[in-house]
Amino acid sequence: MENCQLGILAPVPKLARYLNFSMKAGINPRKTLMDLAEAVDGEQAVMGIGQPAVVAAGRVIEGLRPFPTNFGSGLILPSTSSALWCWLRGDDRGVLLHHSRQIVDAVSPAFQLDSVIDAFKFDTGRDLTGYEDGTENPKGKKARAAAIVGGKGQTLDGSSFVAVQKWVHDLKKFEAMAPKNRDHAVGRRRSDNKELAGAPASAHVKRTAQESFSPEAFVLRRSMPWAHGTSGGLNFVAFGKSFDAFEAQLKRMVGAEDGITDALFGFTRPVSGSYFWCPPMRGKKLDLRALGL
Ligand code: HEM
Repeated sequence: MENCQLGILAPVPKLARYLNFSMKAGINPRKTLMDLAEAVDGEQAVMGIGQPAVVAAGRVIEGLRPFPTNFGSGLILPSTSSALWCWLRGDDRGVLLHHSRQIVDAVSPAFQLDSVIDAFKFDTGRDLTGYEDGTENPKGKKARAAAIVGGKGQTLDGSSFVAVQKWVHDLKKFEAMAPKNRDHAVGRRRSDNKELAGAPASAHVKRTAQESFSPEAFVLRRSMPWAHGTSGGLNFVAFGKSFDAFEAQLKRMVGAEDGITDALFGFTRPVSGSYFWCPPMRGKKLDLRALGL
């Protein structure tokens, strides 16, 4: 029986909402987390718990740490502490709104809502730049092996670690680039998604090629575009059995290995960065035994 939150392994939905919460000062979140465990199914709602909530509950989750900002390349990334993250998945904005209200109510004794990001699937699963996103994601058993903790004991197995970054695209700047330069920035051809062997070392897929790391650095990406007014970007979401693979990729993207920065930074930038631990499921409930609950 699968004991992870099933929404992690499921395909990206048509619509989603990401809710971010901070702690209310001076409140122990244990009781609220226990109530939340009953309210979250792991499929329509995937829940992640951030270090602030774990600390406030008086526990430690091995491997959960603050989002890194400085890999020594001179490019500092935003790290935004967040206590609770909820990825609501669906295909109807009305249903998502009511689900959000239900979650916000359930956690309100200990958590306050900081931000809501409405996200959507663009076309067949493209980033707003038009490039297919998710092509090289591991599938089936490999997806599970990359994203879900195993062999770490009863209370951690089935859990997952998720890295989340909101990226804001400068679409005007992107559109001003010659089509060839755009393809070279990504390392794939937009027209047919073919990987370009001759792309420069700064190409995103060359920076992040999962098999090129030692050890190999596989993650399960479940990113979705977001839009607000006339702005837009990508809410980057990567699940891993630890944060190690994600950090290895990010380190290379910012140029900390060889001084070459990922060409994506030429037209997009992250404005947030948070890490969460996504508890396993036990029956129909979140399993919070690792938090002593
Ligand atoms: C705005 C930000 C980003 C955009 C628009 C973006 C877009 C893309 C696109 C279009 C691809 C090629 C198709 C695919 O295999 O999915 C790709 C691949 C990939 N991206 Fe990103 N990405 C972004 C940020 C990141 C970040 C922050 C990481 C990790 C630190 C990352 C990790 C990867 C990985 C691992 C691959 C597959 C590489 C391979 O093994 O071939 N991406 N991304």
